[in-house]
Amino acid sequence: MSDTDLTALRLSYTRAELRRTDLNADPLAQFQGWLDEAIADGLRESYALSLATADSAGRPSVRTVLLRGADARGLTFYTNYDSHKGRDLAGNPQAELLFHWADHERQVRAFGPVERVSDEESTAYFHARPRESQLAAHASDPQSAPIADRAELEQKLADLEAHFPEHLPVPKPDFWGGFRVRVQEWEFWQGRPNRMHDRFRYARQEGGWSIERLMP
Ligand SMILES: Cc1cc2nc3c(=O)[nH]c(=O)nc-3n(C[C@H](O)[C@H](O)[C@H](O)COP(=O)(O)O)c2cc1C
Repeated sequence: MSDTDLTALRLSYTRAELRRTDLNADPLAQFQGWLDEAIADGLRESYALSLATADSAGRPSVRTVLLRGADARGLTFYTNYDSHKGRDLAGNPQAELLFHWADHERQVRAFGPVERVSDEESTAYFHARPRESQLAAHASDPQSAPIADRAELEQKLADLEAHFPEHLPVPKPDFWGGFRVRVQEWEFWQGRPNRMHDRFRYARQEGGWSIERLMP
């Protein structure tokens, strides 16, 4: 067991503050501004997020995925539809997303119903990925199922490499594609000294967004 006294580890957040007047009326623009700052400052995988889902009985699960699109329709990531998360979302199509940019002392939460990205859009993104990733998507199916050992996985990949001629595009498997979270609620959190953090929640209303400050 680690000897580290976890209760002694703490940071005071002093980098920035977030005032009501700083907020963009459009939460997507607010999010894009923070994401752009994280990317510009070279924060590692600043477009990675925690994706929380729950099955139809309410059992939660969470994992990291990569953000692959953010526009007025919502936030998009790609995965295997038969994976644990894919099955959760089939039975209970809502999710919460979490970005944590530790070096910026910021987190963003986004909640909403989830829909599948169109097959055309998923296919276009699939073909934009490196060939090795395309083959790996075929090999890792069903994603999240147990596999005997690493050798079995590598043999599957080798078989697929031989199966798909090198000069032809790898077809997108039907079981692979995007999900889009149509965000209904956003929360922007900026760390402040002494746990007096700034938090604002946007909630979608008829024709716009309400904004409230939340207790830290
Ligand atoms: C930084 C990072 C990025 C990841 N990006 C993705 C992704 O975009 N899509 C994906 O399906 N899995 C991604 N994964 C793997 C998932 O975290 C997870 O292990 C996998 O999707 C299976 O999750 P599930 O069993 O809950 O469905 C990523 C993992 C890490 C650590």
